[in-house]
Amino acid sequence: MNLITPQNLLKHQEWRYAVKKFDASRKIDDSAWDALEQSLILSPSSFGLQPWKFLIITNQAMKERLKPASWNQSQVTDCSHHVVFCAKKNVSEAEVDQFVTSMAEVRGVELQSLKGYRDVMVGFAAKAEKEGWAQQWTTRQTYIALGNLMTSAAMLGIDTCPMEGFEPEKYDEILGLPARGLNAVVACCVGYRSPDDKYAKAKKVRFPAHELVERI
Ligand SMILES: Cc1cc2nc3c(=O)[nH]c(=O)nc-3n(C[C@H](O)[C@H](O)[C@H](O)COP(=O)(O)O)c2cc1C
Repeated sequence: MNLITPQNLLKHQEWRYAVKKFDASRKIDDSAWDALEQSLILSPSSFGLQPWKFLIITNQAMKERLKPASWNQSQVTDCSHHVVFCAKKNVSEAEVDQFVTSMAEVRGVELQSLKGYRDVMVGFAAKAEKEGWAQQWTTRQTYIALGNLMTSAAMLGIDTCPMEGFEPEKYDEILGLPARGLNAVVACCVGYRSPDDKYAKAKKVRFPAHELVERI
């Protein structure tokens, strides 16, 4: 594995910013997009349950429909790929079973040996649903995938704009999510910055390290 240097890592982190104006003429090529899609898939989640769906919107007509529901932010229509992170409303017993079955196959172990793990997950998800925090739990997971996508894109020299500035209920309706047991949580526009996006030159505003980080 080729490791990048700490300096290089920070260079990419400094290079990344929340793009306000994408270059609508530039599209991400298939091989770069495939890697970003795999990065989404490889994102970690609680128990590994992946309680999400990533909707990748490249269809221009659909982007145009979503724009008014996105505070009219032009990034939605000008980016190459508009990603909508959807969280499952809950994790069912059947979904846990699907997950452990897949784990048994992939890792070549007996399903029976995973029964303890399975029961813990089923118990956890049932408790979350009964106590009313299942959706909050799945929603949190999607932000991990969002961060992973943004960092992965930056490492490839691809731009992003994370986006909470949209009306989730409208996204849900336009994309037909509730019927699929899903809700739109957060989005991310991915593509290439326009050369005249003045925000690219804006200095990063971050509190000093000693206010944010404590070494104990
Ligand atoms: C969860 C989340 C939601 C955001 N929503 C929007 C948004 O709707 N529109 C936008 O232009 N920027 C949005 N941002 C970008 C932030 O304003 C930006 O990340 C922050 O000001 C720090 O600047 P930087 O990312 O350029 O370093 C969002 C960022 C995050 C993490």
